[in-house]
Amino acid sequence: MRISIIGCGYLGAVYAASMASIGHDVLGLDVDQKKIDDLGQGIAPFHEPGFGKVLTEALDSGRLRFSTDYSQAADYTAHVICVGTPQQIDSAGADLTYVHAAVDSLIPHLADDHVVLGRSTVPVGTAASLLERLRAAGVKSPLAWNPEFLREGFAVKDTLHPDRIVYGLPEDPAEAARAREVLDEIYAPMLEVETPLVVGNYATAELVKVSANSFLATKISFINAVAEVCEATGADVSVIAEAIGLDDRIGPKFLRAGIGFGGGCLPKDIRAFMARAGELGVTQALGFLREVDHVNNRRRDHVVNMTRKALGGTFTGKRIAVLGAAFKPDSDDTRQSPALYIASKLSGRGADVVVTDPAANQRVHAERPNLAVAEDAYAAAAGADIVLLLTEWQEFKDLDPVKLAEVVAAPRMIDGRNVLDPARWRAAGWDYQSMGRP
Ligand code: UDX
Repeated sequence: MRISIIGCGYLGAVYAASMASIGHDVLGLDVDQKKIDDLGQGIAPFHEPGFGKVLTEALDSGRLRFSTDYSQAADYTAHVICVGTPQQIDSAGADLTYVHAAVDSLIPHLADDHVVLGRSTVPVGTAASLLERLRAAGVKSPLAWNPEFLREGFAVKDTLHPDRIVYGLPEDPAEAARAREVLDEIYAPMLEVETPLVVGNYATAELVKVSANSFLATKISFINAVAEVCEATGADVSVIAEAIGLDDRIGPKFLRAGIGFGGGCLPKDIRAFMARAGELGVTQALGFLREVDHVNNRRRDHVVNMTRKALGGTFTGKRIAVLGAAFKPDSDDTRQSPALYIASKLSGRGADVVVTDPAANQRVHAERPNLAVAEDAYAAAAGADIVLLLTEWQEFKDLDPVKLAEVVAAPRMIDGRNVLDPARWRAAGWDYQSMGRP
């Protein structure tokens, strides 16, 4: 299949390289010249394990090109919208500016036998309105919605070996048949190995994505709410998570209590979902997501309070080492990062904060010049009055408590991700606290 991909951010760049790797001819389009130049030279614009290799191999195969010239899309058959849908600056809803711009820039280059595919996460109703936009411009190409579910850190694996594929097909039977033909060809290798395929209409496909992310966010906030009760009772949330996770109706995943969820998806998706429900007159249906958001934000502020208490009630003159800035390990993404939120809050309250992250240091330096950045955990912890572990990178989990104790001013640790062994750290002399564990 000849595929053009509009938007070479996280989703689009990984999708472009992955689709070329399974034999398709791919053109990646973006308005950002620097990004296009980098990708064309095999330089990954973000940290993602395995992506650099797939990108280089795809470029070497001759099946992958990048350009800022949208007129080249005319030579391709499937056009996949992969642009971002961030939260609006002044409201909870999703900003569809980039989706509309992508469709508008495609319109002059579309032929009747082309198919437009949406992969961006959008509010329900967007596909129907984009179809109207295409038809109003005289474009006859079918449109289908094909949400993605990739996780950062596993983006290539999730793209090439998805646990399900979802098609949101148009109402018109001939258009649906054409869209399906193109989708089936794109995903032929995945369908061959019997990846489950779920088919519905536009609204269903759009809702699958936001429902999945809302469920995941709810699971995390659920266990974090239980952690709050544990803190009031002396119970251990990680033991509770283990016990309830053994019920296969509940399952063990996404029950890691800690400082909560961040990233470019979960926080904005639950807010956009609530905003859209409001527009549709079903605000109450998603009222619980407001609580999910509140619990999530409370956990971050709880760490700020724990830190102040551990430091004797004041931040003034105190040095705080923050281990982790990315919203999760194996990523340099700091969007809505709980770690960075906490680091900034502490710095704003007058503490001398030093952050270190194996992948996001440069980003922190560029985006938060008020925060000092150190090369590694030992450099960050040198002379610290307290150490906070806020992103669970393997190298932080592997830290030696005896060695780290030698460089700090006082051996105090708040483990915001519940990944260290309390007994081992306490035995090495640390005043160790975690989230929802005694
Ligand atoms: C998420 C969805 O998982 C993915 O399917 C979708 O396509 C995009 O959004 P991602 O944003 O990469 O993926 O991160 P994810 O692995 O879901 O983690 C989100 C946040 O939740 C992270 O900050 C993580 O630290 C936190 N988290 C996750 C917890 O606090 N506890 C858990 O048990 C799991």
